[in-house]
Amino acid sequence: MKITVVGAGAVGATCADNIARRELAEEVVLLDIKEGLSEGKGLDMLQASTLLDCDVKITGSTNNYELTAGSDVVVITSGIPRKPGMTREELIGINAGIVKGVTENILKHSPDAIFVIISNPMDTMTYLALKSSGLPKNRIIGMGGILDSARFKTYLSLALKCSPNDLQASVIGGHGDTTMIPLTRLATLSGVPVGNFLDAETLGKVASDTMVGGATLTKLIGTSAWYAPGAAGAILVESIVRDQKRLFPCSVYLEGEYGQSDICLGVPVVLGRSGWESIVDFNLNEEEQAAFNKSADAVRNMNNVLETLEI
Ligand code: LAC
Repeated sequence: MKITVVGAGAVGATCADNIARRELAEEVVLLDIKEGLSEGKGLDMLQASTLLDCDVKITGSTNNYELTAGSDVVVITSGIPRKPGMTREELIGINAGIVKGVTENILKHSPDAIFVIISNPMDTMTYLALKSSGLPKNRIIGMGGILDSARFKTYLSLALKCSPNDLQASVIGGHGDTTMIPLTRLATLSGVPVGNFLDAETLGKVASDTMVGGATLTKLIGTSAWYAPGAAGAILVESIVRDQKRLFPCSVYLEGEYGQSDICLGVPVVLGRSGWESIVDFNLNEEEQAAFNKSADAVRNMNNVLETLEI
């Protein structure tokens, strides 16, 4: 197995490090346009490997796509992160050209790769990667819902004073501060609805904290987060390469599922060796479906911006 992570910034490097630590591949390639960055971070990770008993070849590459040849899975994190006060959507002008170029370069050397898109605005970048590559829809997966669900579980576990490992909770819809939908009705603590333990006001606060989870970190750190985004990317990749068939919310191309078409948006999908393998219907109630439709409208507006860009 060979996995490439494009972008050796904080998210890309953390993702590559988690992939290496979990020994998800024999070789991990980290590629960046910045001279020496990926070689340096790759070497640092290799040195960490000698301490952590893990045996993975880690190759750094300054924009040499030949080194990525034959990758089974490619994670794209390239582009600029947001600064405090910025929305993910504001990054489209710069990141769209980068994501399109990276996708083309990767495909020249890894025609069979499965793509995981992390660059923001993630749902639109996933749609762009799909449309510009012409690849089968199952091989393009946007990483957002896993991260947002991790944040949802974090805030739920703080409110419930419970272990996050005993929680099941999903965030669907767009990966945006106003477009994501924490499914509070369906969240459970060991199978029991969390609404049995938390009042509506507390649950509402958990949901709103989740929605601005990324923005809260950006404000605190001064740039966007990387530990949870990198870990979420690695866990998504793990389900693919180990064919685990795990069920995670990811941004995938919809053709009528959840009432939407011609859009990439977060829905629960089964992840296995061929990419996303099926979409699971969570039977949304009217209110949840209305929120999902509203989320789709916002993401569609963002997708329309792609047509105005010269990329
Ligand atoms: C975040 C970025 C990765 O939510 O979108 O932290």
